Amino acid sequence: PEAITVQELSKRMGEKGADLVKTLFKMDMMVTVNQTIDADTAELLVEEFGHIVKRVSEADVEIDTNKDVDPEETLKPRAPVVTIMGHVDHGKTSLLDALRGTDVVAGEAGGITQHIGAYKVTTKDGAEITFLDTPGHEAFTEMRARGANVTDIVILVVAADDGLMPQTIEAINHTKAAGVPMIVAINKIDKDGANPQKIRERLLEHEVIVEAMSGDVQDVEVSALKKLNLDKLLDAIALQAELLELKANPDRAAEGTVVEAKLDKGRGPVATILVNRGTLKVGDVFVVGTESGKVRALIDDKGKQVKTAGPASPVEVLGLSGVPSAGETLSVVENEARAREVASYRQEQATSRRTAIAPANLDTMFSALA
Ligand code: GTP
Ligand code: MG
Repeated sequence: PEAITVQELSKRMGEKGADLVKTLFKMDMMVTVNQTIDADTAELLVEEFGHIVKRVSEADVEIDTNKDVDPEETLKPRAPVVTIMGHVDHGKTSLLDALRGTDVVAGEAGGITQHIGAYKVTTKDGAEITFLDTPGHEAFTEMRARGANVTDIVILVVAADDGLMPQTIEAINHTKAAGVPMIVAINKIDKDGANPQKIRERLLEHEVIVEAMSGDVQDVEVSALKKLNLDKLLDAIALQAELLELKANPDRAAEGTVVEAKLDKGRGPVATILVNRGTLKVGDVFVVGTESGKVRALIDDKGKQVKTAGPASPVEVLGLSGVPSAGETLSVVENEARAREVASYRQEQATSRRTAIAPANLDTMFSALA
């Protein structure tokens, strides 16, 4: 049910909050300005003041991200977004580091100077791949719960000397639930006791049928430590990405997803955004969750200041009003008035959800005292 605080209603009516409280009292309702009243009560109150009622619905204010589907002819190929998952100590971080080491561009630029929650690797064939730094299963699920299904491909890391473990199976289930294609990286093949074939067999029990077992899930034997077969893994990703025909419209107002966000001592609120579509530019005005802002600076995953960030690009955004939550959507809007309107509407909604209580009428007040 829709609800509004007396305070917010008084603002919209241009009347004093105290006058509203007084009138509510006359209507047998004991409410303070910070409390919430339901839409019907608000309507009665507004009429009592001789104002005309205009209910603003969510559809009038909210950004409709489904409304403007990008027409086919505006779509251009984009890089795949890849998340690495797997059991503790099976080598997720090592594999990410090793893959990052293959980045030809980063190599030329003198290595990666900065770590953010997502980064782009350019392969020797010139293909770009965006990796989300192992967000953990909880973050993955949480982002999915927010409707932020940003991952195109999951790499399931399984240590060849350890086999399928609880978190491996959890990762399989999460990936299936998300409907995302998987590539199995059988890691640590350099170790004594590594038994990749056993892993392929065990995967069958969880309905993951790899190519070597005549299925269609790609599997690659790797060693993150010895840097074995990393190119094969990158090829497998490129092949899977090709099948997905990933595209986005780069020529529109940007939309992105918060990968991580923090309050930086020197720079203020900073969010790592993965651009989903459109191109984010310095100077753009945006809303993200209940926060708004204007892009003051964009910093790419190599620590370099950039003017723009297109689809599938991870970028740090400076110029936020506050710290948003991971999984929230950033939307570029026309102007600051619009940004404030959406942000304050969302704040209002969030507040009334927190404080939504039935206003006590005099009867219940007195019976409570008796
Ligand atoms: P968590 O983040 O704790 O879940 O672990 P992780 O999956 O990120 O594993 P991490 O990369 O930290 O590796 C765990 C241990 O395995 C480290 O000691 C690595 O050096 C080792 N390791 C990772 N890959 C390989 C490999 O290919 N071969 C060998 N021999 N050791 C490896
Ligand atoms: Mg790790």
